[in-house]
Amino acid sequence: QATSIPADRVPDMEKRKLMNLLLLGAISLPSGIMLVPYATFFAPPGSGGAGGGTVAKDALGNDVIAADWVKTHGPGDRTLTQGLKGDPTYLVVENDRTLATYGINAVCTHLGCVVPWNTAEKKFICPCHGSQYNNQGRVVRGPAPLSLALAHADIDDGRVIFVPWVETDFRTGEDPWWS
Ligand code: FES
Repeated sequence: QATSIPADRVPDMEKRKLMNLLLLGAISLPSGIMLVPYATFFAPPGSGGAGGGTVAKDALGNDVIAADWVKTHGPGDRTLTQGLKGDPTYLVVENDRTLATYGINAVCTHLGCVVPWNTAEKKFICPCHGSQYNNQGRVVRGPAPLSLALAHADIDDGRVIFVPWVETDFRTGEDPWWS
């Protein structure tokens, strides 16, 4: 009897192993969950490494693929996507069916309503207090004091990437008020 492990110790060992597994699970599960937003937060945006850029997302939350977009959005189209900081941002299809190199931030510069595109009028017309912006987002009627903000719409690895616009506003020739 002295040569074999006492029978009553075997279940004990198994129990201890099980306890260890449970303990490990209890510790690693929540930290595994917490790692997800942490990693997401620090992952380079667009994973293409465009500095400060963010991949445009369509209404379903999918990355916008430039080639697919221009197949399903005709010349002159302005459709909302999710842009920088989650701001609703219009992707613009030019008359030659290419994507414009700028996106238009849809947040009204008056009090922040999202401004819809009016295809018939070829203007952005704010439903809240009637401000109007031309087809490039330049303010043409108040009370909005400023034009809609711009973002660069670059194409990286086929996907549309919004990058902060810090250069002169090509519509007004002025410094951007939003950066
Ligand atoms: Fe757009 Fe007032 S919020 S006009």
